[in-house]
Amino acid sequence: MKSAAPIRSICCIGAGYVGGPTMAVIADRCPDLQVTVVDINQDRIDAWNDSDLSKLPVYEPGLDAVVGRARGRNLHFSTGVDEAIASADMVFISVNTPTKTRGLGAGQASDLRWVEACARQVAKSAVGHTIVVEKSTLPVRTAEAVKAILSAAEHSLDGSQRSFSVLSNPEFLAEGTAISDLESPDRVLIGGEHPEAIESLASIYGHWVAHERILRTNLWSSELSKLTANAFLAQRISSINSVAALCEATGADVREVARAIGTDSRIGPKFLQAGPGFGGSCFQKDILNLVYLCRHFGLPDVADYWESVVQLNTWQQHRIARMVVKKLFGTVTGKRLAILGFAFKADTNDTREAPAIRIAKDLLEEGAQLAIHDPKVDSEQIARDLQLPASTAPAVDSGPTRAALSGEGTWWPSDDVASALREADAVIILTEWNQYRDLDWSVLAPLMRQPAWLFDARSVVNPSEVRAAGLNFWRVGEGQS
Ligand code: UDX
Ligand code: ADP
Repeated sequence: MKSAAPIRSICCIGAGYVGGPTMAVIADRCPDLQVTVVDINQDRIDAWNDSDLSKLPVYEPGLDAVVGRARGRNLHFSTGVDEAIASADMVFISVNTPTKTRGLGAGQASDLRWVEACARQVAKSAVGHTIVVEKSTLPVRTAEAVKAILSAAEHSLDGSQRSFSVLSNPEFLAEGTAISDLESPDRVLIGGEHPEAIESLASIYGHWVAHERILRTNLWSSELSKLTANAFLAQRISSINSVAALCEATGADVREVARAIGTDSRIGPKFLQAGPGFGGSCFQKDILNLVYLCRHFGLPDVADYWESVVQLNTWQQHRIARMVVKKLFGTVTGKRLAILGFAFKADTNDTREAPAIRIAKDLLEEGAQLAIHDPKVDSEQIARDLQLPASTAPAVDSGPTRAALSGEGTWWPSDDVASALREADAVIILTEWNQYRDLDWSVLAPLMRQPAWLFDARSVVNPSEVRAAGLNFWRVGEGQS
């Protein structure tokens, strides 16, 4: 194998939520490195190349500035996958790894067909020595499959001199804070078998990450650490949400409990915000992956332990929908409800596994009329998530719509909060967008049909202002003392 030459050119396969921002920051921080991000999705690549930086396919605060500085200089977006692989010293695999929907491991195991396709493409097109970096979150020992495909290419009989090293370099960025997470990471994790390949990648991060924050491990520890980090984080959320339910039943307040336990330095204050349950593309998928691995390796009790974290999360979402129905005299059929927030958290347009999906579906099932507002999520995405096309918003003071009279659940998008609330029996806050924090309830409450409710699943509004405006009020984890 060749010794580690300095890396001059890298390629990233997959221009998604992870690949795009990560490569943009690498290019920004390493101006001497040529960075090409490739994708088979032409629309996505066109959006990354759009001269209007507000049209980038991923919404992340600060991303437009980073892309604006590097694009065209040493950051390129293209659909020329084979050419980019051929000219790269290092190839990152950053494609989607959703949960399998059919076959062996359906509902739990990761679907690795895109990763495998990438490995085969790298095997076919790479020239000379290539370091292949797993960036997508992958089940433990995936690198083995990637290595097997690549080493078959090393031994091909076409006379070309090719060799590969495989590294695992999981990404810990969270959506909404991707750029700051990438620019000042808690740590960078590099797992591998060949020290010189590890050092090549470490030297890229070394442009802006302190030496002691770059952790080197073996391949399997690196792969497992990513799943475990997400499982621990998700477990904290299920833990605090379980306590929120107990607070509501006993008269305690989950915010006070969170503060009390969070000041214990062994527990720490982060990730103790009770809410409608966790969403996002990673937590559920990664835990289910862990569950599958545990069962596969003969550890059913460990599998059950982690699975309960997901079960509690699903329960929390159904619980909120049930509670809304109960408070509205046991029925929401034909009632207008305003949903504020559809993204799985603030500062992102991503709705993957958003708690709003399950809660809205439950309410639609009960025949509710939902006016849905989100500052970043477009109505086509909501329609796909709810598997129900949008209806047209009823005219002001139109009275019950035909659908409402027949008990059919419908929804429509609302461009502003006031129109979502008009004539509504309840408003349900499901995403902690900043703009929901300082709404003027003395102006909004009179727009609603009385008696009206505000359900704050994210603890963003000021309870005394809401009560002073004459609304009935529920918020997650607040018991009636
Ligand atoms: C997560 C991990 O944080 C990140 O390290 C990993 O790389 C990918 O998965 P992300 O899914 O973008 O990132 O969002 P995160 O901020 O972790 O939030 C996940 C979900 O948990 C959101 O729905 C959020 O609203 C919820 N959450 C988070 C809570 O309900 N309470 C909290 O205290 C924190
Ligand atoms: P993530 O959140 O992990 O970044 P995304 O779904 O946002 O996942 O992005 C993954 C990207 O990978 C998609 O844009 C998809 O088109 C792309 N992709 C999947 N398979 C391939 C492949 N074989 N070659 C190039 N791009 C691919």
